[in-house]
Order: sequence, then C-alpha cells, then structure tokens
Amino acid sequence: MFVVVGVSGGIAAYKSVQLVRGLVTAGHEVHVIPTEDALRFVGTTTWEAISRHPVTTSVHDDVADVRHVSLGTRADLVIVAPATANTLARMAAGIADDLLGVTLLATTAPVLVAPAMHTAMWEHPATRENMAVLRARGVQVIGPEDGPLTGGDSGPGRMSEPDDILAAALAIVPDRTDLAGLTVAVSTGGTREPIDPVRFLGNRSSGTQGAEVAVAAADRGAHVRLVAAYVDEGVLAAALRHPRVTVVRVATAVELRTAMLAASADADVAVMVAAVADYRVAEVSDHKLRKEDGTPTLDLVTNPDVLAELVAQRQVGQTIVGFAAETAADDAELRERGRRKRARKGVDLLAVNAVGWDQGFGAGENAVIVLDASDGVRAEVAGDKRAVADGLWDAVASVRG
Ligand code: CTP
Repeated sequence: MFVVVGVSGGIAAYKSVQLVRGLVTAGHEVHVIPTEDALRFVGTTTWEAISRHPVTTSVHDDVADVRHVSLGTRADLVIVAPATANTLARMAAGIADDLLGVTLLATTAPVLVAPAMHTAMWEHPATRENMAVLRARGVQVIGPEDGPLTGGDSGPGRMSEPDDILAAALAIVPDRTDLAGLTVAVSTGGTREPIDPVRFLGNRSSGTQGAEVAVAAADRGAHVRLVAAYVDEGVLAAALRHPRVTVVRVATAVELRTAMLAASADADVAVMVAAVADYRVAEVSDHKLRKEDGTPTLDLVTNPDVLAELVAQRQVGQTIVGFAAETAADDAELRERGRRKRARKGVDLLAVNAVGWDQGFGAGENAVIVLDASDGVRAEVAGDKRAVADGLWDAVASVRG
C-alpha cells in the first residue's frame, strides 16, 4: 500500500527511521514528510535513503506534480510519528503551512498518530482538547507509553515502539494478500518497429496502466514478471523498486512476444496491456533513409498476435486477460465491439476502455468494463489507473474462484 509517514520535531524521530524501514521491508511504498523541525533530529538524506523516495518539507517543491495534493490523495494510510504537541495542535486546527499540514488536509485515508512529548505537555488541557477533537474526527492514536523521558523525568509521553506502530497501522488497513502465491506475467508500453536506424512506427501508449496492473498485483502478494516496451519516463519506478516485480525491457513486437511467452509459460495469470504494433516494416533499412533517395514506400508485414498465441498455448488453470482500447461513438458501441473482440480473442477476461485524442492515454483517469467468457460484464471500474488495476484484479480473483 501507499503509506505517508509524517515526522514532527521530537527526539523520537530517530525511532521512526525503524518504522519506515519496517514498512519498506514489508513491501509498502513509503513517502516521508518531515516538518522543518524534524530535520534537526534526522536529516533528509536518511529519510530519502531509507524510504527510497525524494523528501521535502515545503509545498513549493515539485509544484508541477501538485505533490502536496497527490501524496494525500494517493495515500492508503497516513502515520504521524512522532506527533508532537505542536503538530497535534496544528492538525486539530487544520493548519496547512507546510507539506505535512497540507497532506493531512488533502487526504481521506485513515490517519494514525503516535504522540511523543513531555508528560506535562501531554496532560495540558490544550493537548487533551486537541486529542479529543482528533479522536472525534476518526484519527487513531497509539501511545504515548509510560516510561523514562528525555531529560530524566518519567511518565506518559514516550512514543510507542516502531514495531507496535507498524502493527497498529496494518490493523487499520489490513494488507491485502489475496493474490499471494500467484505468479503473473504482465506486458505494458508501446512497441516500436524500426524503419531505419533513426525512425520507427510507434503509438501513444505511456505504459502507465500496465505498470499499475503489475504493481497492484505485487502489492496484493503476487510475484510479477513485467515485460515493458517503450514507456514514459518514471512510469516503471514503482515496479523497479518493488521486491516482487521483475522487469524485462523489450523494443519490438517480436521481442515482446518472446519475452511474454517465456514469462507466461508457468504463470497463473497473463495480462496483455501492451499496445503491440500490428505491423512492422518488411525490410528495415540499415542506413538512414534520405530525401535524395526519393519518397519511400513502406511495405508492412503483420506482427504475431501475442495474445492469440497465449490463448493457443494456455496451461490448465491459467487465466488470460486482454485489453482493448477502442474508439466508439457511445457506450453501447464500446460494449458491442468489446464483446466481439473478447470472443474473437478467446480470452477469459477483456478489459475494454474508450480512447480518443484526449482520452485514455497518460497518467490521468481511466475507465474500463471487464467482459468475461460468458459475455457478462464482470466489473466496471473508473478512477485513477491504480484503481482500475485493482478493479481488474478483483475481476481476475472472482473468475479464478
Ligand atoms: N495484442 C497482441 N498482439 C498484437 C496486437 C494486440 O497481443 N499483435 C493484444 C493487446 O496487448 C491487447 C489485445 O491484444 O491485450 C487487443 O489489442 P487490440 O489492438 O485492441 O486488438 P487487435 O487484435 O489489434 O484488434 P484491432 O483490429 O481492433 O486492431
């Protein structure tokens, strides 16, 4: 899952390093948001190294990505550890003067706080009232524990141990492991068919949807082989980091076929998300075509249909899923085209989505209908590409029973 760990400025920040490490080791994508004060205790370098993601405190960094909103909206869970009296007060008042404050306002995910402060501050009526406000809003609280505090005093105020915070976090958002034990092969991206050493026939696929399908399966416990043709920059980042994903890079349809047949041979599920070029140039020129040679005519030959080959070689118990990007005048036409293609391809599931000049490509929202072998609509999912990926896996899990 996608976890945001907010760290505020207390000595217990050093213990949160272990919390972040525990989350990463368990296979979660973790983004750390320290407050400015927290960086006095543990610096950016440590958080970046341990979480394997860039770390900033300000809403003015990475503005193009609208990071302050995206971290909050993508989070499945937000943990604030340590949560100082000041941070709890800011949360209660909804103050958003740094990246952590903004992220907490932008998220609808469950929030877990692990308070840490001196006993006198914890017992102060202001803190008590702030905690009551936060609890009433549904914020979950772990600790603080009773024990020795920095400065020699003793009493309630110690942050809970990282392992206990981790266990409490996973109890709030149970880790989905419904695909554990499965091996899946996924293809993504667009193939490029060379014309000469500098030119190719390609398509607009960014690879985002297939990468999300791979990472969603891995997050849910599957072992994933991702065969990636050309994808936009950064699209494979989460897959490359994931402990249960192996990535194989390919360029052409013929290469993709070889890699995907190998990846699928003993896989439980094969999902063809890649935009495979239907044709390649019959004779690739070994030198750059020049204008002085005259206007070229490109002879095309048909590429192998990888999905059809997967269906032809299907193993017992294997589930094969295709994608179909269709241009259609309306929903009825989209479904009808989808039904015909599902039957023609012989796949167990076909995810059909509408595409157009401004629809279906890149990092934005997507919407698919998932058709099954009895021509029923097994699922209809809309949302960001991760939500679509999870909806697709729900459908796969339901047909596998
Ligand atoms: N596909 C494939 N090999 C190809 C072309 C497509 O494996 N040479 C797969 C895609 O990855 C996708 C599915 O087939 O999962 C449907 O792709 P699409 O391009 O919609 O299908 P086509 O058979 O090419 O149909 P159309 O006539 O609409 O182009």
